[in-house]
Order: sequence, then structure tokens, then C-alpha cells
Amino acid sequence: MRKKIIAGNWKMNYTVSQGEDFLLSIIDTINTDEVDVVICPNFTMLDRFSDLLEGKKVKLGSQNVYYEPKGAFTGETSPYMLQALNVKYCIVGHSERRTLFGETDEMVNNKAKALLELDMSPIICVGETLEQRNSGEMFDVVEKQVKAALKDIDKEMVKRNVVIAYEPIWAIGTGVTATSDEAEDMCKFIRKTVLNLYDKETAECLRVQYGGSVNPKNAAEILSKEDIDGALVGGASLKNDFVSIVNYE
Ligand code: 13P
Repeated sequence: MRKKIIAGNWKMNYTVSQGEDFLLSIIDTINTDEVDVVICPNFTMLDRFSDLLEGKKVKLGSQNVYYEPKGAFTGETSPYMLQALNVKYCIVGHSERRTLFGETDEMVNNKAKALLELDMSPIICVGETLEQRNSGEMFDVVEKQVKAALKDIDKEMVKRNVVIAYEPIWAIGTGVTATSDEAEDMCKFIRKTVLNLYDKETAECLRVQYGGSVNPKNAAEILSKEDIDGALVGGASLKNDFVSIVNYE
């Protein structure tokens, strides 16, 4: 049985003190072992949150990373810097990074590899635009993203640490959620893609999240699906709604 993983992507929201106030208001209400819960705040909060989350059930995640260990890369953050702050998860290839900041499939692959080398979990985001869905290209688009992201990654690493988040771009921040069947179909397809790349065991271990306008009303139905192993939550993770989503059952 795959353990579900529910992650909050705070994106570029909250100052350190605002984030801390919110985190402290919810942290003790999240006390479950049934689900892995991850919060991915802005970089500026990671140091403080690393202390606040010590001994808590919630794990710390980052929203980005650079793949070089150190050096002249102004403005970037290395996997070692994240590891030193007890960061366990890191979102890579979010569609906002791909479209607004030019993150390519190759960069996503390099970031995933760099994280895995240090035993951290990349949450690899994939997903199609509305145009691509309307023209029926969505499975091809997602297959290409998954294959590129996992290029040259060893199956033991995939089994141990890789999470893939299916985030259809048209469902992000729009209030329009994919139907649970649309989400399930794509998450199942992602698992099949991983099966073809590796083997059945690896595909069965892989956790696939859905992301895109997840809220307390739709979470239970989405998370009841066989191939959906969790949620990547944006807007609703900035509010108490996140606790309701974590307690979706
Ligand atoms: P929303 O939940 O705000 O649609 O955002 C989803 C997302 O992009 C999570 O990474």
C-alpha cells in the first residue's frame, strides 16, 4: 500500500513572520501517521521552519533547487543547502517555473538527480495546457515530461524517493478542478509510463499526486482514486483548508 502524500505549495506568499504565525496555528492539528504531510514555504522561511518542525509530523519541502553543489550561481540554492536544513522534499518543474522562468525538461532531470543523490525526494510536476488537452495531446505531453524527468535515474532511487505530481495547467489557481476521472486517468497513465521505463515493482512504489484547485470539498473524491496517491495543494494550503484536506477521510 502506498502511503498518501499531501503537500502544500505556498508559492510566493507570506513573509517569515506571517508564515510562522500560520504554521504555528495549524501544526499541532496535523498529527497523523496515515498520510505524509509536507509544507513547501518560500526559501526565506526554510531555516526557521526547520527548527519549528523538529519532532513534528509535518515534513519540510522546498519549492525549487539548483543542481550544482556550490559555486558562482548568483541567486541559486544548492541541494546541500536544503539538506542542511532538513528539507526532505523539493518541488521541481512546477508549470510556473517552466513557463515563467524557462525551466526545461533537462533542468528538471538535473534537479531531480541532484536531490536523489542526497536522498531527498523530488516532487516532479508534469501537466498539459488546456490547448493540449483540447487537441488530445495530453498523454503525449505528459509521457514526454515523465520520461525526460526520469532520464538516467536508477530504479532504486525512483522506488525510494520519487514523487510525481500531475498538475494540469488549466486547473492551477483557476478553481476548475480536473474531474476525479480525468485526474485518475492521467495518474494511471503516469504509472504505466513508469512501468514501461522500469518495471512493475517500481511503478507500484511510485507515488503520484494530483494538483490543481484541490480544496476540502473535492479532496476526498480525488484521493479515493486508486492511482492518486496524494495532492499538491496551492491556494488552499495557505488557509485552514489545508488541515481539512489532510483530514479528508
Ligand atoms: P492551486 O491549488 O492554487 O490550484 O495550485 C496548485 C498548484 O500549483 C500546486 O503546486
